[in-house]
Amino acid sequence: MNTVVEPVVAVVVAAGSGSRLGAEVPKALVDLGGESLVGHAVRAMVAGGALRVVVTVPAGHLADFEAVLAGRTEVRLVVGGAERQDSVRLGLAALAEEFGPETVVLVHDAARPLVPQRVVRDVVTAVRDGADAVVPVVDVHDSIRTAEPVGSQPVDRSTLRAVQTPQGARLAVLRQAHRLVQERGLPVTDDASAIELLGRAVTQVAGDREAAKITEPADLLLAEAVLDRRRKT
Ligand code: CTP
Ligand code: MG
Repeated sequence: MNTVVEPVVAVVVAAGSGSRLGAEVPKALVDLGGESLVGHAVRAMVAGGALRVVVTVPAGHLADFEAVLAGRTEVRLVVGGAERQDSVRLGLAALAEEFGPETVVLVHDAARPLVPQRVVRDVVTAVRDGADAVVPVVDVHDSIRTAEPVGSQPVDRSTLRAVQTPQGARLAVLRQAHRLVQERGLPVTDDASAIELLGRAVTQVAGDREAAKITEPADLLLAEAVLDRRRKT
């Protein structure tokens, strides 16, 4: 029997401004130990088997991204959209020019530069094993309450998981999901939630704290510590 192994490709979404980080450059261009966040994120996808990485970039910054990703032959740059989901949709359209419907796609935040290879591999494996949508998750450690300043309610954190990236799915399924989100004008914060709108199930794999998203300055300090430790071991 001739079993076709479909390729693995990625969209790294990097078109945000990083308003909460507050750097002078778009967040994905911020330096972490001598390399941009987007450079780390692309490296993680390639190490996990991606043979093409489409990077969505903020309008007006193509040349800056070209400069930091120079020499990365796997990379194609496309200008992103207003919201993350728009950027993902545009990135998927670029992938569809080159790859077929069953291609395994990883959608990853440039803001998660240090995702371990084990997580990337587990996501790919789960898609290959037949999952429609795969998310890496971690437990919630803090106690959680609803947001009302007065009269807030505790929420049972044992029922909750924090969702990371890369999220994995087949190219055709992801495109269909993101088209639906656009047509209906629905806001989604991640790709698996878009796929769920098609009535398909979401499969969880173990994420990793080191894949934490860099959102505020303190997150960058923690990532620097993680990178230092990796470089010493
Ligand atoms: N992203 C994107 N296109 C957008 C918005 C976000 O490609 N229109 C990307 C970001 O570059 C980031 C990822 O989606 O890698 C997760 O978003 P987030 O952490 O919220 O980044 P920003 O939107 O840049 O940050 P902020 O919300 O603080 O402005
Ligand atoms: Mg944002």
